[in-house]
Amino acid sequence: MSDKLLFTPGPLTTSPAVKQAMQRDLGSRDSEFITIVRGIRRKLVDLAGGGFEAVLVQGAGTFAVESVLGSVIPPNGRLLVAVNGAYGRRMRDIAARLGIESIGLEFDERKPIEPSALAGALNRSGPFSHVAIVHCETTTGLLNPVDSIGKLVSAAGAAFIVDAMSSFGGIPIDLHTAHVDYLVSSANKCIQGVPGFGFVLARPERFSQTEGWARSLSLDLFAQWRGLEQDGQFRFTPPTHVLLAFARALEELDAEGGIAGRYARYRDNHRALIQDMQALGIPPYIAPEHQSPIITAFKFPDHPRFDFARFYSMLSDRGLVIYPGKLSRENCFRIGTIGHLTQRDIRRLCRGVAEVLEILGVKSPE
Ligand SMILES: Cc1ncc(COP(=O)(O)O)c(C=O)c1O
Repeated sequence: MSDKLLFTPGPLTTSPAVKQAMQRDLGSRDSEFITIVRGIRRKLVDLAGGGFEAVLVQGAGTFAVESVLGSVIPPNGRLLVAVNGAYGRRMRDIAARLGIESIGLEFDERKPIEPSALAGALNRSGPFSHVAIVHCETTTGLLNPVDSIGKLVSAAGAAFIVDAMSSFGGIPIDLHTAHVDYLVSSANKCIQGVPGFGFVLARPERFSQTEGWARSLSLDLFAQWRGLEQDGQFRFTPPTHVLLAFARALEELDAEGGIAGRYARYRDNHRALIQDMQALGIPPYIAPEHQSPIITAFKFPDHPRFDFARFYSMLSDRGLVIYPGKLSRENCFRIGTIGHLTQRDIRRLCRGVAEVLEILGVKSPE
């Protein structure tokens, strides 16, 4: 039986070869495995344009975010988090839980972070040692202006932390132009691996000063990096099979033409989605100029017979898995256009949506 197609922001549909790569048992202290991990770290630095350290952190992406926030901010540091969705909010919550002095600067969930408002907060409430934003806010799929914010952060002398969980590898980002000091992403997003670890790209000038600051033992980013550097090993059990899948996924990223090639396919996927959903009378929630090709939020059709639980399960029965919404105020569902998917898969999904809406008795507007 073939798997359902995942129109989700990760875990996502992976290629047969990525799944196949996991059919091996490697010792975590064995030289073959250590060589593979070194290769992965080197490749991640290449994707960042060089000049960074790559640190792999076991667990979900949130573990890697928590590892950065808990490790790179000194005991007397102050953090400004710009929030325009659930993942910005999560960074603010992590900082609060860790007892880091922080301010959350709230923006409308439908709009990108306003650089001028952020500049105002930097002046008014500063100084801040660190500023954190989400690049692609997966809550809605909107893109935040990482370049202009990075310039402001750098001018204010703060370190810049970017959660690029759902965008790194699928949308070009110039980490140097954007003055990014720490970028966080994970295995099961645009690089199209399977879940099991996150990774951090850290600028050495900043990162080298952070020894001993971590508020956690297992999520100590500096200690994790030192372990990987010294003998190439993880401090604690690594997800060996996941790393094998990731190494294969990186080869596939190269074969597709790198980040630019992948971005082009995601854009085609997204364009097909918008065309077909518009034709069904379901417009996207976010204005096109702010929307990424990663994931798209759609408001529930304004019809008494629309029932999300039934809509979802009828699509799932057809082998098509979409994603619930995460907005604080609106009822939305989301459709991801990343992973091992093409426009053909997107068109198939949209045919499924049309069929299910018809069965539910939800008519599109005339
Ligand atoms: C932007 C962003 N940050 C953080 C996360 C959290 O990742 P995880 O669910 O792997 O912990 C996600 C997950 O989708 C995300 O999209």
